[in-house]
Amino acid sequence: MKRTIWPHPADPRAIQILDQRRLPHEVVIADLLSCDDAVRAIRDMAVRGAPLIGATAAYGVWFACLEAQSSPDPAAYFKSALARLRESRPTAVNLFTVIDRQLKALDPVSDFSQKAALALETAAAVVEEDVEICRRIGGHGLELIKTIAGKKQGQSVNILTHCNAGRLACVEWGTATAPIYLAHQEGLPVHVWVDETRPRNQGANLTAWELGEAGIPHTVIVDNAGGHLMQHGKVDMVIVGTDRTTRTGDVANKIGTYLKALAAHDNGVPFYVALPSTTIDWKIRDGFKEIPIEERNPDEVRHAEGWSEGARRSVLLTPATSRACNHGFDVTPARLITGLITERGVCEASEAGLTGLFGDNAHES
Ligand code: MRU
Repeated sequence: MKRTIWPHPADPRAIQILDQRRLPHEVVIADLLSCDDAVRAIRDMAVRGAPLIGATAAYGVWFACLEAQSSPDPAAYFKSALARLRESRPTAVNLFTVIDRQLKALDPVSDFSQKAALALETAAAVVEEDVEICRRIGGHGLELIKTIAGKKQGQSVNILTHCNAGRLACVEWGTATAPIYLAHQEGLPVHVWVDETRPRNQGANLTAWELGEAGIPHTVIVDNAGGHLMQHGKVDMVIVGTDRTTRTGDVANKIGTYLKALAAHDNGVPFYVALPSTTIDWKIRDGFKEIPIEERNPDEVRHAEGWSEGARRSVLLTPATSRACNHGFDVTPARLITGLITERGVCEASEAGLTGLFGDNAHES
């Protein structure tokens, strides 16, 4: 499986990413050459998805160390570069935990060339760990799909997902998609309902693209269709990702996730969240009060973007004078979640469930 971020094969001071703003119609690789390139890539969503934001930030810290070396005041430069990195997006907790992890790793050395070497090592570790975490989530989620498949007598297991919690949101595999990739590889019949995910259309643009690349049957639906499909027995399970999870199991994910959870609850459809432990914010308990929800430019709602006559174009949907609002995420309360699929197994969405699996990490912060 191709990765979404990797060291430049010819330039030891560069990182490459897949520019997700151009998918699904163009596959464009972009170079990151500075901390501010990493900031822009995260802020402008060339990379997105909690784990990939974290991986990009890890390299951002490395760039900041390299740049600090040629600054008249290296410490001040480094501090302001990291502040810009922290401000790039607010909701995915990986951005902050990865920067903090880098700071901890760099603390023992004061020289910025030594810090740069350590930062590059840590970034590589963040990347490799994400691959392994997602692969393990895949294994645990696969068992859930197998159980449902066992009851369907050879018919496809219909899985609904929202946004893109796929390989494009991570380094490889994805979180919500990892069980689906593994099921497909094992020859289990799976079909994915892909919410288009207005306004940025991560479902229609990204999830549909990556599932298509893997040859996985899928159907793109409008964001409001999920409830109807569930009422008609056409959804066997929902699997979504998360940008930040409280220690009590509340989950912030792309706006609209909560409505899917409500519909799933009303229709007795199991609703799972694929949860790398890197997205748990152990410091917080109440998702509604404590998770910062990104508010994006209302123009994303007022316009729609698509491909026409060989180019990506934006068209105005609303009256030119209408106001719009654009919350990027919502919080699904733990009580609506059937289970959390983590790298250590599936647990209840609760403090007992999470500390049962991650007790050793839960007290760190
Ligand atoms: O705004 P985005 O595209 O960064 O939002 C991404 C999501 O909401 C994903 O579902 C989440 O980050 C989980 S990714 C494994």
